[in-house]
Amino acid sequence: DAGDIEKGTYPHFMLKEIDEQPIVMRKIIKEYQDEHNELKLDANIRQAMKAADRIYIIAAGTSYHAGLVGKEFMEKLAKIPVEVHVASEFSYNMPLLSERPLFVFISQSGETADSRSVLVKIKEMGHPALTITNVPGSTLSREADYTLHLYAGPEIAVASTKAYTAQIAVLAILAVDTAKVKGLELDFDPMQELGIVANAMDVLTGQKEELEQLTRDYLATTRNAFFIGRSADYNVALEGALKLKEISYIQAEGFAGGELKHGTIALIEEGTPVIALATQANVNYSIRGNVQEVVARGANAMIISMKGLEQDDDAFVLPPVHELLTPLVSVVPLQLLAYYAALHRGCDVDKPRNLAKSVTVE
Ligand code: G6P
Repeated sequence: DAGDIEKGTYPHFMLKEIDEQPIVMRKIIKEYQDEHNELKLDANIRQAMKAADRIYIIAAGTSYHAGLVGKEFMEKLAKIPVEVHVASEFSYNMPLLSERPLFVFISQSGETADSRSVLVKIKEMGHPALTITNVPGSTLSREADYTLHLYAGPEIAVASTKAYTAQIAVLAILAVDTAKVKGLELDFDPMQELGIVANAMDVLTGQKEELEQLTRDYLATTRNAFFIGRSADYNVALEGALKLKEISYIQAEGFAGGELKHGTIALIEEGTPVIALATQANVNYSIRGNVQEVVARGANAMIISMKGLEQDDDAFVLPPVHELLTPLVSVVPLQLLAYYAALHRGCDVDKPRNLAKSVTVE
């Protein structure tokens, strides 16, 4: 069928889409640059970003996790306060809005009903909205004032991979562009740094055998797994856990390293897999402390660290990228661990049970 043709030589769309991530990064670099290598964005979006005193990011699932990463860019680079909300919860306890809010909807499909219902509500209230989507012309794109395109190409596997990294890359570009529009001095060239990320992703997608072996060592028979991280790594821990749950049905949770001792550490038993991310210099010491705590209680800990911060026993070392952009590379081995875990368990990788690619009911 048509699906087989599009998959080419790949056994699953998910694997193909994981491999496409460096290509998508390069496509985004190209599409968001003009012929003078200056950032290229719609003037109306620039105006809306400049006018906003606070950004409200609304999303679901993996797109929500991308929003958490984007918040850091927006606050650190563009100096705009950002709130990130799960779409389905937003309306129940709508926060007191700032004077000049801008709503940013992040949605791969542009069709998620939970997000759309927030969009309808805030448009009634008269607030501006920007949709960041892989499908321009989708409902969320048409009904918002502005659209930013992800250029990720069709994403077929239910578990989102390349859309997540595309969302993060576009959010980084948007944050830098806004900083420039606001006249802020930045020591960060997003296109150069995203180019380095693309090359790092090429290296990572070439390390499948190593990651398949790690999956066998850590996730072969387990019923649960924990992902821990601090700061930016915490956001990626949430996404790594979601990927694993979605397709392998292993019960997985992402936790902030420092929060473990406040409850979750009670769940650590002999052999419990704990996957720890260590890509941030300022928390490298503390996250390794958390690893020692869980190992002392029997955990089977796998440390994934960034080159330059690695220690002898780390299971996997990521090629170095700018510290702000580490989520774009640390997520790749987590996507592949989830993929191989699902594969080895005989799960339907591309069409996991009970899940839909886009959920058009509330
Ligand atoms: C569904 C999919 C998820 C996705 C979420 C949000 O639940 O299974 O993979 O992250 O919807 O989708 P969106 O298209 O709005 O990004």
